[in-house]
Amino acid sequence: MSTNRRGFLKGLAGASAGAAATGLAGCAPDISPAPVLDATEDNGRVVLMVSRYPELAREGGAVTLRVPDRPNVLVMHPQGTQYAVVSSLCTHRGCPLGFQEGEAICPCHLSRFAIDGRPTHPPATIPLTTFSSSYDSELDELTINFVAGEEGFPSVVDGKIFFPFTQFPQLRTAGGVVQGTPEGYGKLIFVFALDGGGYSAVDSICPHQGCGVGYQEASQLLRCPCHEARFSRTGAVLQMPNTGDTIGPIKTFTVTSDATGVTVEIV
Ligand code: FES
Ligand code: FES
Repeated sequence: MSTNRRGFLKGLAGASAGAAATGLAGCAPDISPAPVLDATEDNGRVVLMVSRYPELAREGGAVTLRVPDRPNVLVMHPQGTQYAVVSSLCTHRGCPLGFQEGEAICPCHLSRFAIDGRPTHPPATIPLTTFSSSYDSELDELTINFVAGEEGFPSVVDGKIFFPFTQFPQLRTAGGVVQGTPEGYGKLIFVFALDGGGYSAVDSICPHQGCGVGYQEASQLLRCPCHEARFSRTGAVLQMPNTGDTIGPIKTFTVTSDATGVTVEIV
């Protein structure tokens, strides 16, 4: 296999690096965030030769994988040839997660998550985002796919995603929303039919520290669970993070429509 297909290890930072990145104090002393591993992607995929990374190779081990322009992810090795990949920040207040006894665990207030992202212990109630991965035991290679999409959701074709009205009739009506993860982009997006006519398409990665935002139907806004930033359906900041930081709008995409459906340009 050529080296350009492989994830490239740049450095293995101490566990404290992730904790320091959040600026959050008061973590439980006996639980550490997973150590940070820097890697690069090729066509939306990172390939790791597992045996090169002792923290990941051992059963019960995990690393926090940091890839430019992708959300940080927690790569877990619960047992045998089983691996799982989830977003690395706790959905309670955004602390970097560790891995213990087969679950992702937050050092800050002890939320726990199953390896499929489900919260299993409060205070967190929102699931972690999961990422597609596969392990080739002959090659000892773990492939993490950042651009895998949701089955049945439209894919990116030539940089665009088309949402036909026949499949997404809610986009014909003001207030309608479609959300999902397109193959070729690999991150959740939202498409809104706006009240005044027209459309917007908005990314799900919070510009503060990269947590995933969710759409709240009742209030018609996007909320980040990590530090409570709020965004409008056109991506504008309605409420800054509760850390005192100042952030800009969430990423948006160009949207056009015709009689047959809505097209979102993914750039
Ligand atoms: S930040 Fe994770 S439990 Fe509070
Ligand atoms: S990551 Fe801090 S408000 Fe979203």
